[in-house]
Amino acid sequence: MKYILIIGAGSDVALPLEYLYAKAGYGLYLASRNIERLMRDADEIRRQCTTEAIAYHFDVRETASHQQFYDSLPQKPIGIICLAGTLGDQSKSEQKYFEAQEVMEANYTGLVSIVHIAAADFEKRKEGFIVGVSSVAGERGRKSNYIYASAKAGFSAFLSGLRNRLHQSHVQVLTVHPGYIRTKMIEGRETPGIITATPEEVARDIFTAQQSGKDFIYSKWFWRYIMLIFRIIPESSVKKLNFK
Ligand SMILES: NC(=O)c1ccc[n+]([C@@H]2O[C@H](COP(=O)([O-])OP(=O)(O)OC[C@H]3O[C@@H](n4cnc5c(N)ncnc54)[C@H](OP(=O)(O)O)[C@@H]3O)[C@@H](O)[C@H]2O)c1
Repeated sequence: MKYILIIGAGSDVALPLEYLYAKAGYGLYLASRNIERLMRDADEIRRQCTTEAIAYHFDVRETASHQQFYDSLPQKPIGIICLAGTLGDQSKSEQKYFEAQEVMEANYTGLVSIVHIAAADFEKRKEGFIVGVSSVAGERGRKSNYIYASAKAGFSAFLSGLRNRLHQSHVQVLTVHPGYIRTKMIEGRETPGIITATPEEVARDIFTAQQSGKDFIYSKWFWRYIMLIFRIIPESSVKKLNFK
């Protein structure tokens, strides 16, 4: 059986994605911090789908343990999907560096650590795939979220360089830029309903894009056009319009 390692398996997008892979016959390694929830999810996946699912406690920020964690997996995965992330609190991040550091580690540097380890393995085996869920936020910093946005920008740039490196080794690297998704990450925030995706829609976009060998997608698709416009607004206008 081929296994997929899900980093940030506690994400609301992770669960529907896990079912798509489980129903397609893949085994799952679910890695995140909320181990009780992961164990429940793994039990339910095993019950509903005829596949294997194993829960692991994993903290993206504890980079010193990543190699040992990867080496301890019973069978090396064929793919790694990174969904971990935190929005953090922008105003706290502006006042205390350690708040900003947590956001940068969970969304960027910690992911680089585990992805590099999987990438080295896939490169040697000349097979595998890496999916990194970044964000449209990384395409332009806004005053309300620029620490999170800068981490996402870093992660997207990392993935595009890695894609070029691993191309010769037949390893797929897929970058996902979602817009708003109705998950616990943005709970309590008002977002325009019409452009806010469900976790199931984003999971389906990720699964389809990965299975068809894509390099980069927006989820949902129309964010390509929203970002095209948003990126070309001059800085002077952004300042005047006082965008949040
Ligand atoms: N929701 C949106 O509007 C939106 C928009 C664009 C992009 N995204 C991105 O989509 C991805 C999935 O997010 P989501 O919307 O599904 O949010 P979510 O439900 O809050 O999921 C994020 C998960 O990341 C895990 N995580 C956070 N810090 C971690 C750490 N240090 N180590 C291990 N796991 C950690 C958490 O699980 P544990 O607590 O179990 O560790 C959490 O459940 C994220 O990368 C997010 O940035 C979301």
